[in-house]
Amino acid sequence: MTDYPFATEVITEVDLKSRVVELGQAISNDYLDRSPLFVVVLTGSVLFAADLVRNVEADSEVDFLGLNRFGEGGRIGIAMDLSAPVVDRNVIIVEDIVDTGLTLKVLRRMMTDRGAASVSTAALFDKTRRRVTDVPIEYRGFEVGDEFLVGYGLDWQGVYRNLRSIWAVMDIEAFVRDPKVLSKQLHSG
Ligand code: IMP
Repeated sequence: MTDYPFATEVITEVDLKSRVVELGQAISNDYLDRSPLFVVVLTGSVLFAADLVRNVEADSEVDFLGLNRFGEGGRIGIAMDLSAPVVDRNVIIVEDIVDTGLTLKVLRRMMTDRGAASVSTAALFDKTRRRVTDVPIEYRGFEVGDEFLVGYGLDWQGVYRNLRSIWAVMDIEAFVRDPKVLSKQLHSG
């Protein structure tokens, strides 16, 4: 794994891939007789969702939900709604990372209120220590620390979603000064 003073590679592409396969197998076992509807939360979860659904052996559908987040406190609005109702569907919310848990809590309630038959969550990363509200995660990829992570869908000011592995930001100031500080290093040859 690679280290720079401002960022460290913390999860390799190989480890990501094999964990996503395991999550797909767990979902396949649980949803043999129920077709899941994957509700993918834009934008960070798209890469994870694309790999996850390819490892699920059950008739699956995929839909997308775009959110607006309003500051602290978990207030969210819908920027882009699902294309179809979730009534009587077995929803699996696909999240990139659960931090305070507030977003996920609102989403689970939203799916239940809209009449989903069941609601569960697949989250690739879980910042357990930062949780402020109890919320279940049925399919959890990795428990991670408090560091801000980028790569594999996760961004810093829109950058780094395309990285194949996960990096932890070690020097926030360096990223504030120059959001592309890591990409300059990675692409410098
Ligand atoms: P929560 O409502 O506090 O759980 O917020 C979860 C959301 O915060 C995620 O879906 C991400 O958009 C964002 N987030 C939290 N931690 C990170 C991180 O380390 N990297 C990138 N985005 C993050």
